[in-house]
Amino acid sequence: MVFEQFKQKKYPSNSDFDAIYPKKYQEHSARHFTPVHIAVKASQLLVDSPSDKILDIGSGVGKFCCIGAGLTGAHFYGVEKRKTLINLSNKIKRTYQLKNAHFINNDFTALDFKQFNGIYFFNSFHEHFDETCILDEESKVSLNAYQKYHENLILKLNECEKGTRLVTYYTFKNKIPSSFRFIDANETKLLKFYIKK
Ligand SMILES: C[S@@+](CC[C@H](N)C(=O)[O-])C[C@H]1O[C@@H](n2cnc3c(N)ncnc32)[C@H](O)[C@@H]1O
Repeated sequence: MVFEQFKQKKYPSNSDFDAIYPKKYQEHSARHFTPVHIAVKASQLLVDSPSDKILDIGSGVGKFCCIGAGLTGAHFYGVEKRKTLINLSNKIKRTYQLKNAHFINNDFTALDFKQFNGIYFFNSFHEHFDETCILDEESKVSLNAYQKYHENLILKLNECEKGTRLVTYYTFKNKIPSSFRFIDANETKLLKFYIKK
């Protein structure tokens, strides 16, 4: 079982892990959901102790939260605006008994960011900027929404407590407020690590 492998520090390939999801979501994985090796690295950067609370802004099918929860034992919270993706995330949580993964169906702006020790952000508003990557046919996208979400992201990140860790994937530094100090990036420079001043 994939989550048993995480506890033994044996990481499944991306395609083996994605097999836990219905076919139509497996097709979105490469573009929309964090690859296994990146989720492992990001959760190790974010978690200091098993009592930590980590927030994934725009959790999609819950891939990052489930890997982080299975690997570290800390509490991972995914906030996601699409109800169908929350239902799917909760189904995976129940099937694999991931008691420390939690999913909230809401807009990220509704949350109190002070509650979290760590934040993960994988360029979640990009579908508003590039229509070729919309996750479904019902959602409306607009450049205005893209700009508004990024303004709100800055406001919410500025609310975080001093010492809060932030990991971003595929996100330029100019989207992150100067209240976060850049610490390091991985070899591809796509994964970046910051700490709140
Ligand atoms: C690129 S996916 C990331 C999935 C997940 N974080 C991962 O790494 O596997 C971005 C997700 O953010 C969600 N999203 C976009 N804007 C949001 C908002 N304002 N509040 C909550 N979720 C949002 C989208 O519905 C989409 O499922």
